[in-house]
Amino acid sequence: MARRAAVLVTRRVFPEVLARLTPHFDVEHNAEDQPWSPDALRARLAGKAAAFITPTDRLDAAALAAAGPQLQVVANMAVGVNHIDIGACDRAGVVVTHTPGVLTEATADLGWALLMAAARRVTESERCVRAGQWRGWAVDQFLGLDVHGQTLGILGMGQIGQAVARRGAHGFGMRVLYHNRKPLPAEQEAACGARWVTKAELLAQADHLVLVLPYSAETHHCIGAAELAAMKPTASLINLARGGIVDDAALARALSRGQLAAAALDVFEGEPNVHPDLLTCDRAVLTPHIGSATRTARLAMAHLTADNLLAVLAGQPALTPAGQWHRPQHAEPAA
Ligand code: GLV
Repeated sequence: MARRAAVLVTRRVFPEVLARLTPHFDVEHNAEDQPWSPDALRARLAGKAAAFITPTDRLDAAALAAAGPQLQVVANMAVGVNHIDIGACDRAGVVVTHTPGVLTEATADLGWALLMAAARRVTESERCVRAGQWRGWAVDQFLGLDVHGQTLGILGMGQIGQAVARRGAHGFGMRVLYHNRKPLPAEQEAACGARWVTKAELLAQADHLVLVLPYSAETHHCIGAAELAAMKPTASLINLARGGIVDDAALARALSRGQLAAAALDVFEGEPNVHPDLLTCDRAVLTPHIGSATRTARLAMAHLTADNLLAVLAGQPALTPAGQWHRPQHAEPAA
């Protein structure tokens, strides 16, 4: 009898998704709550035909080399692929897949939760109540920023950016401006009620700026001290994309100096570590990379990852292959 292909699943996943793989393959599965260290990941990749991975697993050239020639597919349970060396995978003939589409609306919803929380000081005022410090209603207590009718800025206009825009234009009556390397076709702009502007115009005009662009060497710190200084002091900044796009130290400084009114971050440079100055900053809302974290979205992402893995190991084309961020489903790098 032919040996079954070996498959690595690097994180705990839904049992119903795992159950689609175990009848066909020898599956090694991380059932713990923590990701494997890079060394442990490399050791476990050896001899595998497929790896079902997540954004906490760095698939660099060394990991690929450790995997060996049997590896056919890296199926990533996320849309962002900045933790994977796509060039090395291409050279090794390894297919890389990701999960666009199925997480778009859930992630846009979280973007709005962050925007509203930062604007209306939701987490800051909640901390005051929980600490027993609330002394009752007062005229000027926790005054926040308006959202309705304001200017929403979006940097990076892929599927998630457009979903964020639609909510702003159609739900909150906002003027929506965006910047992307290439403007969207006119009918797509009309559908999300958004208008292309230069990055400088976006920074200067946005009352609430949402970042939804892919991370790469090109977009590293594309929001740094200079960009923050170019924003309105009454504005808020929301990072829904990846840590490293924002210079977190510069952001903490801008908030503490009143150069910017508020911020909300779901992703951080070097996460799960968070810059200590952000931790003590009242006007920063901080969430632990939960953009797509609804059961529906995460289950759909896990199933799509399994679909991709099963297709490639069956000799079929991947359903949603990834490449550089500028392949069709992704936002263009907007910096
Ligand atoms: C999550 O961060 C993703 O890229 O899907």
